[in-house]
Order: sequence, then structure tokens, then C-alpha cells
Amino acid sequence: MKEIINVEIKSREIDFADCKTDLLVTGLFADVKEPDKITAQLDSRLGGEIEQLLKLGDFKGKDGTSALIYGNGRIGAKRLLLVGLGDKKKATLDTVRNAAAAAANKAVTIKAGTVSIALHRAFGGRFDLIAIGRVITEGAYFGSYRYDEFITENKNGRPDSLRIELIDPDAAKIRMLNKGLCCGAVIGKAQNYTRTIANRPGNVINPVTLAAEAKKATRGVKGLSCTILDEKQLAAKGMGGVLAVGAGSKTPPRFIILKYTPGGKAAHNLPTVGLVGKAITFDSGGISIKPSDKMSEMKLDKTGGIVVLATIKAAAELKLPFNIYGIIPAAENMPSGTSYRPGDIITTFSGKTVEVLNTDAEGRMILCDALAYAARQKCDIIIDIATLTGACMVALGKHKAGLMGNDDKLIKQLQQAADESGEKVWYMPSGDEYAEEMKSKTADLKNTGSRWGGACTGAAFLRQFVNGKKWAHLDIAGVDILEKTTECTAEGSSGFGVRLLTTFLMNLAEKKK
Ligand code: BES
Ligand code: MN
Ligand code: ZN
Repeated sequence: MKEIINVEIKSREIDFADCKTDLLVTGLFADVKEPDKITAQLDSRLGGEIEQLLKLGDFKGKDGTSALIYGNGRIGAKRLLLVGLGDKKKATLDTVRNAAAAAANKAVTIKAGTVSIALHRAFGGRFDLIAIGRVITEGAYFGSYRYDEFITENKNGRPDSLRIELIDPDAAKIRMLNKGLCCGAVIGKAQNYTRTIANRPGNVINPVTLAAEAKKATRGVKGLSCTILDEKQLAAKGMGGVLAVGAGSKTPPRFIILKYTPGGKAAHNLPTVGLVGKAITFDSGGISIKPSDKMSEMKLDKTGGIVVLATIKAAAELKLPFNIYGIIPAAENMPSGTSYRPGDIITTFSGKTVEVLNTDAEGRMILCDALAYAARQKCDIIIDIATLTGACMVALGKHKAGLMGNDDKLIKQLQQAADESGEKVWYMPSGDEYAEEMKSKTADLKNTGSRWGGACTGAAFLRQFVNGKKWAHLDIAGVDILEKTTECTAEGSSGFGVRLLTTFLMNLAEKKK
């Protein structure tokens, strides 16, 4: 995968104060009065500058803040970045990840070419060092990310590459950190890849170029195959939902089928997992056209599909021991003389008919075909991820994704993966009351419910296409986009779902006997 900024991460056994680097990174808690050993050691080499900084109150260790000190020949590093970690008792692995992201973000901004991270020390023995190595690496990729591939002038003056290392004088600690680093790098790259493809506009990524990108991204990955169905094959298979949504666009729809088969034999006690991702390369609303304000954000309506592509690739690279399908229905939702219309009745892949009341409820129209397809491939567990409803954003804001499903255990597993990955979810209902609202008078279902609970009725629609399989749905409308640049990372696509789903899959793999 090509990255916009080429990030290389390694580990190195080296003393903190002697480490020659452009930027040395350590962390400080807000409520810890005594500096830890390395801070104290650095402070004595720096002639008490850290102490001064704290004493004067210029830096208090609050999270989201940092302070820069110049080495000036007193330590090996040209600069020392102290990252605020907030209250120690509130610290989680997400604190570590965010601190690493803030450091990497800063490094790109100040054009530091080499960054040496010693954040783990502040946490003492609180978290497993492998986990710390992983989240620091994930954070470093996340924070250094920029999307500027179409800026021709001066590349914003940022460096093309960034060399990051996790450092410690203790070889045993380095070995542990490095273990986590390897896995974190796979996940971090997958997430940044997702951000790049998602950020590409609708005139660059359409269903056909997305399918080509999926082919390219999966080529040469061991155990991973990629099959593309074109519009003729979709018609032959009866994928009425995907075809209807794609009908208005000059670019025909595609159906991307990724299959990962582990080397050797799949562990017999592990399920086959189907990941299904909505890939609307641009959602104008179709004939039920959207208001023009912020319509440009609908280029991100393909995020779920790209998350699935990146996640299955990461799973293959991590050599997870069970079968995984990645199913990505891709279409562009456009108004034209060939568009599907409000009132149309569509026969979907499952055989169920759907009355279209709003062409802007297109996500469920393509997902219902993909879910039914996944169920037919004998997936034991199906998880779909989609920028499905504005209503989910109204309900949860931009902090958490909606999580719906039909299986308590699967929901708990996803909640746990969300806690661990820092990609947060909130469980919402999608049962019979909601499904009732989706009944049509002239077809089996209609594609919109009442005014209320739109995220739940959307999920209740999808629920009816999984043929009794264990299923969960992630509504990522709202969390797919970062509206503003923060101290952690740049604005634009967040790549939300890659960390959550890879963590979920890795946790499943650990259950292997
Ligand atoms: N892609 C949108 C949902 C969306 C809205 C994502 C805002 C991110 C930000 C989806 O296709 C859509 O248009 N949903 C409709 C459904 C409605 C017509 C039932 C919506 O939310 O308004
Ligand atoms: Mn829509
Ligand atoms: Zn949409």
C-alpha cells in the first residue's frame, strides 16, 4: 500500500538522554508530582528546564497539550517533546495511542525527520508492553497522516517520510515493544490506507476504479483472493438492489468479493466471518436529491467498503487462523434519466422485494444484496459497516458509532474490541418494533421508516437479510469524518472501523485451542 507520508517504524536499544534524534518524546501525567526516572535524568542534563516548565505552570501534563524543549547539545536529541497524559488514574491504552499520535502529528508539522518515542516509561508496569508497542505504533501512523496527494504546490512543505523508533535502554523491554510494533504497523498502515482511498473524490474513485484498487491492494497477499462482479454478472445473479442504486450513474456498479483462507487449515473451532462494507462512491441522494450544503462530504460514503478491504488485508498479513469474506457492494448514487425512482419495486438477491420510497436510502439497498450473499457463503458471523444514516449522527454525535445486532455474544465481543481499539460504539435496538415500520403495502419491505429512530429502522431493514446468521451492524455515519485538525491528527477521513474490526478478529483468533 502506498502511503502519502512514508512512515517507517522500528525499535532500538538506546539510552534516552544519549539518543541522537530530531525529536525525543516522553509523557507526563497531570497529577503526578514526582517526575519519573527518565524525566528526572533528562531534566538534570537539561539544567532543570523541565522542572521550570512545570513550576511556572507553562505545561501541566493535561491531555491534549504538549511542550517542546530544545536540546542545545545537552542531550542527544535536538528537541524533547513532553506530551501531556492527563490524570494517571484515568489512563487507558487509548491515552498512550493518542499521545503517540500527538507526537507524530507534531513531528510532521515541525518537519522532524526522526522521532524517538519513550512514552511507555511513564506508564510503568500498568499495561502489557506488547500492547503498548502496538498502540504507540497505531498512534504514530494515525498522527503523522496527511491527505495532500492533489496539492501540487510545495507539498505543503511537509517531509515525504518520517522515521520513528521506539526506544529503551533495556533489550528485554525492546523485544516486547517490538512484538507489538509489528502488529501495530499492519493496523496503522491499513487505517491510513483507508483514509487515503476514502478521501479520494468521486471523480477519482468510482465503482470501477474502486474495484481496480481492490485488485491492486490484494495482489500478492498470501491467502487473499479478489473477485469482481460487473453489471452483467450482477444481473445474472439477481442483485437487484446494487443494480438499482447504480442505475443512475455513468459508471456501472461493481460487487467486490474478497476471500481470505489461512495457510494450512482453518482452525475447526473458529467461525467463518463475513465483513460487509457499504461503498457508495458518491451519494448525491439520487432522484431524492440531497441539499447541496456539505454534499461534497458524501464522497466518504464509501468508507465502510474500504474499511472492509483494508481490514481483510490486515487479517491476511497477520495470518489469522480462520476464513474471512470481505464483501463490498459498490455503486454511485446519481440522479439521471436512468436512475431508480421513488415508488420503484426492486427484487433483491434474497428474493425479497423492496419498495423504494426514498432513493437516498440507498445504502440498505446495496447492503441487503451483500448481506444475503454473505449468508449464502455460509458465513457464521456477518458484520456490516456503513455510513448508513444521518439519524445515527443525530443520536450519538460524532464520538461513537451505532452498534446493532441479533446476538448478545457478538455484541459483547464488538464492545470489547471497541474499548481496546479506542474506536467507540454504542449499542442500539433494531428489533421487531422497528422491523414492523419497514413493512410495505405493495412489496415485502419499504426502504424508509417513520421520522423517528432512523438508525434503528435502517438496521432493522438489514437484519431481515441475514437469514438467521449471527449479525452485527456498525453505523459509522458521523465518526467516518474528522471535521477539524486536532492535536492528534489531520482532518478528513478517520478510517474508523479498521482498528475496531482487526481487534475483533485478533481477539477471535486468540480463542483458538
Ligand atoms: N450516506 C447517507 C447517510 C449519511 C448522512 C452519512 C450524513 C454521513 C453523514 C445515507 O445514504 C442517507 O442518505 N441516509 C438517509 C436515509 C433516509 C432517507 C431514510 C438519511 O440519513 O437521511
Ligand atoms: Mn443516501
Ligand atoms: Zn449513503
